[in-house]
Amino acid sequence: MPDHLLQRNREWAAHAAETDPEFFESLTEGQSPRFLWVSCSDSRVPANVIVKCHPGDLFVHRNIANRVDHEDLNGLSVLQYAVEALNVPHIIICGHYQCGGIKAAMEHTDHGLLDNWLRPVKHLYHRHSDELDAIDDEKARWDRLCELNVIDQVQGVASTTVVQQAWHRGRDLAIHGWIYQLSDGLIRNLDVTIDSAEQIPPIYRIDASTNASTHG
Ligand code: CO
Repeated sequence: MPDHLLQRNREWAAHAAETDPEFFESLTEGQSPRFLWVSCSDSRVPANVIVKCHPGDLFVHRNIANRVDHEDLNGLSVLQYAVEALNVPHIIICGHYQCGGIKAAMEHTDHGLLDNWLRPVKHLYHRHSDELDAIDDEKARWDRLCELNVIDQVQGVASTTVVQQAWHRGRDLAIHGWIYQLSDGLIRNLDVTIDSAEQIPPIYRIDASTNASTHG
């Protein structure tokens, strides 16, 4: 039974209120996080914990293998709300090494429904198969695909209409790619930040002035 979680919650709430009596009251006034954080559902990569953030600091989206795909209504809705309503200036895609979702995409096992979710990761492997197949060490190949998946998400998020429209409106918005190492708890910056439309490949660029909704 998960009752011990409720007990821990009472302890946590009591401690937080003791440390800062205004804490919970201030959170009822609304949220203004500076970051949209996208990471894996994996229990070992708890978003707020690994970057020492408090309630209100991060707007979080998590799923298996930290994907934001263009036909995923859930991820796109989170992205739109974070960009257009919360006006976050930073989007952080934080993957992790030894990601089980990435491993599953590399296998030929039948994982059921999950294989459909991970299909874009298979496509990604296929696009980078020359590089990946040349890596003999299986773990190193797995880790590299974890990195490539983060880079793919940074490029994918940057090319969404939501992000491109935000840039068109003059908003400062940067998408960053980070990766977390389970074995030492450290996050590495992959240095693949995109903060302007000029950084995305031409075929994905939209002329934001042609947005149908602005032309009635
Ligand atoms: Co994972």
